[in-house]
Amino acid sequence: MNQEINVAVVGCGYWGPNLIRNFNAQPDCRVKWACDHDPSKLARVTSLHPEVCCTDSFERVLDDPDVDAIAIATPVSTHFPLGSRSLSAGKHTLIEKPLARSSDECRQLIALAEARDLTLMVGHTFIYNAAVRKMKEIIASGEIGRVLYIGCQRLNLGLFQQDINVAWDLAPHDISILLYLLEDAPDAVSCQGKAHVRKGIEDVTNMSLSFSGGPFATIQSSWLDPNKVRRMTVVGESKMIVYEDTEPLEKLKIFDKRVEVPRTYDTFAEFFYSYHYGGVYSPFIEQDEPLRVQSRRFLDRIRDGRHSDSEGRHGLDVVRVLEAASHSLANHTTSVPLS
Ligand SMILES: NC(=O)c1ccc[n+]([C@@H]2O[C@H](COP(=O)([O-])OP(=O)(O)OC[C@H]3O[C@@H](n4cnc5c(N)ncnc54)[C@H](O)[C@@H]3O)[C@@H](O)[C@H]2O)c1
Repeated sequence: MNQEINVAVVGCGYWGPNLIRNFNAQPDCRVKWACDHDPSKLARVTSLHPEVCCTDSFERVLDDPDVDAIAIATPVSTHFPLGSRSLSAGKHTLIEKPLARSSDECRQLIALAEARDLTLMVGHTFIYNAAVRKMKEIIASGEIGRVLYIGCQRLNLGLFQQDINVAWDLAPHDISILLYLLEDAPDAVSCQGKAHVRKGIEDVTNMSLSFSGGPFATIQSSWLDPNKVRRMTVVGESKMIVYEDTEPLEKLKIFDKRVEVPRTYDTFAEFFYSYHYGGVYSPFIEQDEPLRVQSRRFLDRIRDGRHSDSEGRHGLDVVRVLEAASHSLANHTTSVPLS
């Protein structure tokens, strides 16, 4: 491989330009192509990055032998067709979340990458967020005790998507964080929701995930909320963590709070809960832009095969949960098992 890894970014709407900026910031990488159907999106890329070649033809990118890798930031319905063509053309491939529309499509992408010994990564950007990594470190240290419950809220007004509901749009972030923190997959998922604005596309959903190891998690996703909320509450047996991603500095707070239930009691009069109210602290977290870290991991994965925390198989794990959630939504079933 050349000293420099040549990348093409396909899809230059809201998210694609962030990928271009972050790949261009890596010393051993050059964004050679930006590709989009919409000329106005390409004009914006040219104004920001005049050195990047622009095209509306995906074939042109595939046919360029200098292109080592393709990053795909197009709508979810196009992830599989574009991703499979990218891998078939021998390009290392990064696909934005969710990896594809079904677990079957994810498995095909993974098989294509494995057969050609190519890197396939998914844009689970929050896994590379320093606050999320710190949370994992705190949980692993045993400081908060056994994890009992995790509650996630990701709410804002819009942006309404055309091809997916709010769970497929916003919940991949929370699901990927949960699987990363708990190092486990849920064994059952249930989801309720409602479409208020566009018929058939739920704009508010509530998902529940149960893990055989014990923890229980809920994910609330909404495009119909006046406030931007990005909150995760991890309740442990002895302490609790609140992660507020919208806070500029103190993103994590660790509360020394818990409820103690008496182990044994003989009479009702002896039974009472004891509420422990201790202090709160916010650990120092060295911030780095998560997308910059993700871009670095992708380039490292291409160079030396070092596995990342967002491989194709992690993308599949998230899509399996989303599929089960869709099944629960469509059939009004309370709990869909994940085999
Ligand atoms: N990791 C994150 O934090 C994060 C954040 C936002 C969006 N995303 C993901 O990024 C992807 C794109 O989201 P967005 O909000 O930027 O969408 P968007 O609609 O703003 O942009 C998509 C762009 O893709 C272009 N496009 C569509 N089909 C194409 C094709 N076949 N070839 C070339 N260009 C094509 C469109 O013209 C559009 O400019 C989605 O998968 C989304 O889930 C990830």
